[in-house]
Amino acid sequence: MSTVAEKLELLKQKNAHVNLGGGKEKLEAQHKLNKMTAHERLHLLYDRGFYDELFRFIRHGATSFGMADRDLPADGVVTGLGAIGGRLVYASSQDFTVMGGSVGWMHARKICEIMDMALKAGAPYIAINDSGGARIQEGVDSLRGYGRIFYYNTLLSGVVPQISIIAGPCAGGAAYSPALMDFIIMVKDTGQMFIAGPEVIKQATGEEITAEELGGAFVQAATSGNVHFIARDDADAIEIAQTLLSYLPANNTEDAPSHSTGELLMIEDEELNRVVPDDNRDPYNMFDILHRVFDPNTIFEVHSHYAKNIIVAFARLNGRVVGIVANQPMEKFGAIDIDASDKASRFVRFCNAFNIPLISFVDVPGFLPGVEQEFGGIIRHGAKMLFSFSAATVPKISIVVRKAYGGAYLAMCAKSLGADRVAAWPTAEIAVMGAEGAVSVLYKNEIKGAPDPKRKRKELIEQYQAEFSTPYMAAGKGMVDAVIEPKKTRAYLSVALESLRSKRDLRPQKKHGLIPL
Ligand code: HXC
Repeated sequence: MSTVAEKLELLKQKNAHVNLGGGKEKLEAQHKLNKMTAHERLHLLYDRGFYDELFRFIRHGATSFGMADRDLPADGVVTGLGAIGGRLVYASSQDFTVMGGSVGWMHARKICEIMDMALKAGAPYIAINDSGGARIQEGVDSLRGYGRIFYYNTLLSGVVPQISIIAGPCAGGAAYSPALMDFIIMVKDTGQMFIAGPEVIKQATGEEITAEELGGAFVQAATSGNVHFIARDDADAIEIAQTLLSYLPANNTEDAPSHSTGELLMIEDEELNRVVPDDNRDPYNMFDILHRVFDPNTIFEVHSHYAKNIIVAFARLNGRVVGIVANQPMEKFGAIDIDASDKASRFVRFCNAFNIPLISFVDVPGFLPGVEQEFGGIIRHGAKMLFSFSAATVPKISIVVRKAYGGAYLAMCAKSLGADRVAAWPTAEIAVMGAEGAVSVLYKNEIKGAPDPKRKRKELIEQYQAEFSTPYMAAGKGMVDAVIEPKKTRAYLSVALESLRSKRDLRPQKKHGLIPL
């Protein structure tokens, strides 16, 4: 029988063994690739001293392919809980040094156990991915492990925020766990994500492409839109996750962390009166408005590389977190296309699920016309925006800056979609369509029969613009609450947001709505 001292020594040895993961050589190889180890990532993620690892002595139970004798410390994934900015967060961090961070049954069970704890505690969950995917030796056991992870991702969805960091390979079906989570942060150069890798694609279709071209951070952020944030390295990814969390509530029953002092800072900014150009065809940068309206240095853009014609961002107004959806006239004149619809709808639904008020800034000439857009399903995708804004019960405020035409205006959260407050700038043009298009339909014969059709058309456009491309027709019908000087936008929003703090919007009971996916 061993002594207590010997038992303590054994524990020490076992802990040291687990700390070493796949061994010194593998840890060095990880560092050489500019990657942190699974433990280092969690230590950096959590506040100093506030981190507890769970299930570190888990053992896999596989026996096929010589697995019975294989020792896999922590079964290739470190799991735990701790504080980030003083708030409880659960996390898992795959250890590539242990059999490539591959996912076996116990590895998956550890992850699910942590997710279950996050769910019960009402605390966010962060997954750091660095894995070769399903552990081939464990076959269908690995597959059922993934199934459970996906199931838990779905259970947590809309209850606690879920953030995924891709800091290594994340290939095949494994990519569906991040895809089921709310935000994906990918480390450039080391992170890669795809369903079928370059070799499989070559065999299936003959196409040749490198892994980076296929699933690197930039392509996944800008082209597919799967990734929300690109990180320079592991440390940067962790910092992005920490910043993101600072805007989010712990769960769907709480409000986002407020920095409010109770005071409303109603500064007027004269420069806002000069942002919109005289010619309504000239673009301007919507960020010039946003940065002047919200609290300084609080705008945190999400999905910045994707569908740049629409901006989605978190920000603070008088210390309170809000979600911004804004058209960007510098890209595609701010028109809404398929990708912009998906990007905005997803963000609106996230904000609604987590009690974050929504503020729209509207300058939209319409849904983007084109055969590609129609064939791609702009009707179905655009409908997601109408659905998600209509379904959102958080405070909804819209500022109409310039163009607000047709269905695209509605899709940016018009009064008729349930906006609680709508203010228009004097430069607003709220109309069923742009003057050029309207005149072509209304006065087709008159223009054709005129001695100088070009001149006649120009006259009619100017006439239409003066009468209909203004905020006053809509204001007269109660579609906007107020026409305000741009410089007063912050004050307007401050009062509106404050007055909506106790908003209640009860809807008929149903299992769930059927958003047109
Ligand atoms: C078992 C694996 C593994 C896996 C890696 N390893 N992936 N072991 N199952 N899926 C092991 C390697 O054998 C090696 O072990 C160690 O991890 C490090 O891997 P390397 O290949 O040396 O590293 P690297 O050169 O950096 O390449 C990384 C890699 C490559 C690109 C991820 O390992 C790879 O292609 N792995 C297989 C990927 C794969 O096919 N996964 C299954 C997909 S199917 P040693 O002992 O030599 O150190 C899938 C279905 C999921 O995921 C379905 C869910 C719905």
